[in-house]
Amino acid sequence: MDVMKMDYHIETMITEEEVNARIRELGEQISEEYAGRSIRLVGILRGAVFFMCELAKRITLPVTFDFMSVSSYGSSTTSSGIVRIIKDLEEPIEGQDVIIVEDIIDSGRTLSFLQELFNTRGARSVRTCTLLDKPSRRAADIDIHVDYSGFVVPDAFVVGWGMDYDQRFRNLPYIGIIKE
Ligand code: IMP
Ligand code: MG
Repeated sequence: MDVMKMDYHIETMITEEEVNARIRELGEQISEEYAGRSIRLVGILRGAVFFMCELAKRITLPVTFDFMSVSSYGSSTTSSGIVRIIKDLEEPIEGQDVIIVEDIIDSGRTLSFLQELFNTRGARSVRTCTLLDKPSRRAADIDIHVDYSGFVVPDAFVVGWGMDYDQRFRNLPYIGIIKE
């Protein structure tokens, strides 16, 4: 079975307009709360790219970008529990007000790992902004705080707006669920 060649029926869960409206609100909230400061956005590759671009455009403060790539998933849809750095940051984050930008928080392992890493590296502050949150999926041993969350979603596998199923569907402009 080749996911690139298959036809899928995808049911819309959140429309493009709803996502854009919510990102606008998050941008306004962040701009108010960080007034007078500048922000280092750290996007987690590859899923956060679409969200990060749109969010950054809605923040009215000085913003710089960096990216990290970590892996806690193979091509399966369940977490392995191990987080590995595939690509590290390009700039030091010491003294920076960092916002970690994620597509979706599931077990919370990725975020827990990154929050601890950035605090160890001497960031001035570390907050998290995710497009989607699946709190019902949080691992029992994980204790994280999500500062900015676009939408809380039920325990279903979603695609679009950067999120993939075996690398496909990241480019869907809406958030959907794959139906068999
Ligand atoms: P966590 O470490 O378990 O919180 O994993 C978060 C990462 O898993 C996200 O950044 C996504 O890459 C991936 N992920 C979790 N749930 C989904 C989903 O429903 N669709 C697509 N990717 C997901
Ligand atoms: Mg991801």
